[in-house]
Amino acid sequence: MPPRFGPEFQDELTALLAWRRDVRHFRRDPLDEDTVAELMATAQLAPSVGNSQPWRFVRVRSAELRESLAAHADAEVVRAGEAMTDERRATYSSLKLHGMREAPEVIAVFCDDATPIGGGLGAATMPETRRFSVVLAIHTLWLAARAKGLGLGWVSVVKPDYIAGLLDVPQDWRLIALLCLGHPVEPDVVPELERRGWQARLDWRANVSER
Ligand SMILES: Cc1cc2nc3c(=O)[nH]c(=O)nc-3n(C[C@H](O)[C@H](O)[C@H](O)COP(=O)(O)O)c2cc1C
Repeated sequence: MPPRFGPEFQDELTALLAWRRDVRHFRRDPLDEDTVAELMATAQLAPSVGNSQPWRFVRVRSAELRESLAAHADAEVVRAGEAMTDERRATYSSLKLHGMREAPEVIAVFCDDATPIGGGLGAATMPETRRFSVVLAIHTLWLAARAKGLGLGWVSVVKPDYIAGLLDVPQDWRLIALLCLGHPVEPDVVPELERRGWQARLDWRANVSER
């Protein structure tokens, strides 16, 4: 019998969605292996085009690789700031845009653009759907982590080809995200970029139209 999700669960789900944060401030205490394995397994419940499951999770265990990733992100953050106005750059420079030096887990997520799994169904006409599928797996992981009181941070201030080379992954794997995972220093219901004056959430009506 499938479970029935009652009103109490529905409220809790809404709370989970509201409290899911992009986290950059992590406590350093490690996660136990069972928790990580459980989260990886849950992420694989995501939908994928043709059931191709093209997500490839690479756990970065080497301290040296982690430092190379963090240093690369730091350099790219500075480079991106150069194109901004002085005023905007002042706020931008005060933001913390990754927690790769503190998070107990750093995970690079790739899309295998050449996977034969799923027989090309859907992906033959829209190859980008493989990457959409990987994004869904990440979001599934994001929510599952939050449900366990953990935080996840999505780091995109990097050059995908550089990361693929650094981590020495197969040529057909495209970087979708670098993820930081661990206990957040301080959970908050408001996005950090909103709290720090960069960008607030829009009223949902601003993004819904009718034809
Ligand atoms: C595709 C994607 C890429 C992102 N890249 C970064 C990033 O490089 N650094 C960062 O601090 N946050 C990054 N974020 C997090 C967003 O800043 C965050 O989702 C947004 O500010 C809303 O906050 P919330 O996730 O806490 O609701 C990214 C989010 C997404 C979905």
